[in-house]
Amino acid sequence: MLDGSRFPPLHSPAVRLDVVSKRLDEADADLVAIGLADGEELPPELHDVPGAAEARGGFKKAALLWPEAPGRVLVVGLGEPEELDEERLRVAAALAAKRAGEHEARSLAWRVPALDAVAAPDAAAAIVEGTALAAYRFDRYRSAPEDDGAKTELERLELIAAGADAEPVGAAARAALVAAEAANRARDLQNLPANELTPQRLAERATEIAVEHDAVEAEVLDREQIAALGMGGLIAVSRGSETEPRLISLRYAGGGGGETIGLVGKAVTFDSGGISIKPAGGMQEMKMDMSGGAAVLEAVGAIAELELPLDLVAVVPATENMPSGSATRPGDIIKQLNGKTVEVNNTDAEGRLILADALTHCVRELGADRVVDMATLTGSVVIALGSTYAALLSNDDDWAAAVLEAGDRSGELCWRLPLHPEYKELTKGTVADLTNASSKRKAGTIYAASFLEEFVDERPWAHLDIAGTAWDVGREYVGNGASGYGVRLLVRLARGLADAG
Ligand code: BES
Ligand code: MN
Ligand code: ZN
Repeated sequence: MLDGSRFPPLHSPAVRLDVVSKRLDEADADLVAIGLADGEELPPELHDVPGAAEARGGFKKAALLWPEAPGRVLVVGLGEPEELDEERLRVAAALAAKRAGEHEARSLAWRVPALDAVAAPDAAAAIVEGTALAAYRFDRYRSAPEDDGAKTELERLELIAAGADAEPVGAAARAALVAAEAANRARDLQNLPANELTPQRLAERATEIAVEHDAVEAEVLDREQIAALGMGGLIAVSRGSETEPRLISLRYAGGGGGETIGLVGKAVTFDSGGISIKPAGGMQEMKMDMSGGAAVLEAVGAIAELELPLDLVAVVPATENMPSGSATRPGDIIKQLNGKTVEVNNTDAEGRLILADALTHCVRELGADRVVDMATLTGSVVIALGSTYAALLSNDDDWAAAVLEAGDRSGELCWRLPLHPEYKELTKGTVADLTNASSKRKAGTIYAASFLEEFVDERPWAHLDIAGTAWDVGREYVGNGASGYGVRLLVRLARGLADAG
């Protein structure tokens, strides 16, 4: 349904995963990888094989060994044992996946390292994530394969649970694969150009997720229905475009009897800035301004796939932001869904206008008790935190702590920025209740969050500004371009809530 006839299927092919208990020399793969911490010795069976002298435990060092059996062994350095964590294992796994490609290996076996610092199931999960994310390619528009040597696709990953109980290792590894593949699907959505990924196509992906899972329902509203609800923000932003907007909602009923969690994701499928048009240089990257929405949708898909016992509602306002004779003008005054009026002083500050309505809809109509929103909202956050941390802003310390923790564990890091009544002053309108942008250019990321806070009815709320982390992260396992940021964080957050409830 989603796959147009002119281009290959959307979803990147899944890596097959086998979790086995066997000896290293019984591994069934084109390449076998093992991790070696600094100061650690090679396993006895590899002591005297050719290349063994080259093996190093330094972080990111890699050496290829050539014993008779099981075939090639790649020794990946894990660094100082005290510094070993899941992130280092993701990086090590990504290095191995890259080397596997260079050696034209279609299958890769990893011996799950026995570590003091990381339990075997967590280590297995990290290796799966690093491998699956690093194996991601977006080459559907290339008519001939690139001859850069990296074209061999990894088809199978074998995890050797040496010594550890294979059952929990297998469960953690499979759950990690579900989340990583969902992140890769979000990356596909991010990468798709705006002429392919329209609001309607994003809605079709949401519908597809609902069809795939009995516990998920989707609702898609068109321009007329959005207007009838009173979503003045989403209508104002979509006015300039002939491409139709959509309000996409998903409900996941996983049970558990706890609170209903609301997820909201910005999906501007192309942000030209509107009448307050952006400079031409780099504007093409604004096809990724739907990254928050993509992360939210694919996270719901993964959470449903994992059958996590909790209830979720998700709202993704999807639209283009374009200039035209019908576009919203600077100075126009609109009324948001919750009744507040806004002077649109800058049509390029469009994300907060559509999120405002989506947040109101999420808490008032869909009954969310607490909310997380994700949005590529401000250029300021890119300047402040680069692509390493997303900004986290919240009206609730416990909720913020839960999001920070999910970020730390998943490697999708966030850093909390403050809210303060003085920032709120900046968002007051001259003639309307609010203004969407101030000429002062102070604290852009906090300004945007302060604006959003007006639309959550004082429920616990956490806002993630992912303008920096959604793209060009440059880490070993995500590389540049689309990162899929947020999918694994949200799955981790949901798992924590399900475990607690
Ligand atoms: N989508 C942009 C933010 C953005 C910038 C995303 C860089 C990804 C990379 C957002 O809609 C925007 O244009 N924000 C403006 C707001 C300003 C006009 C108040 C910005 O940050 O410049
Ligand atoms: Mn904008
Ligand atoms: Zn935008």
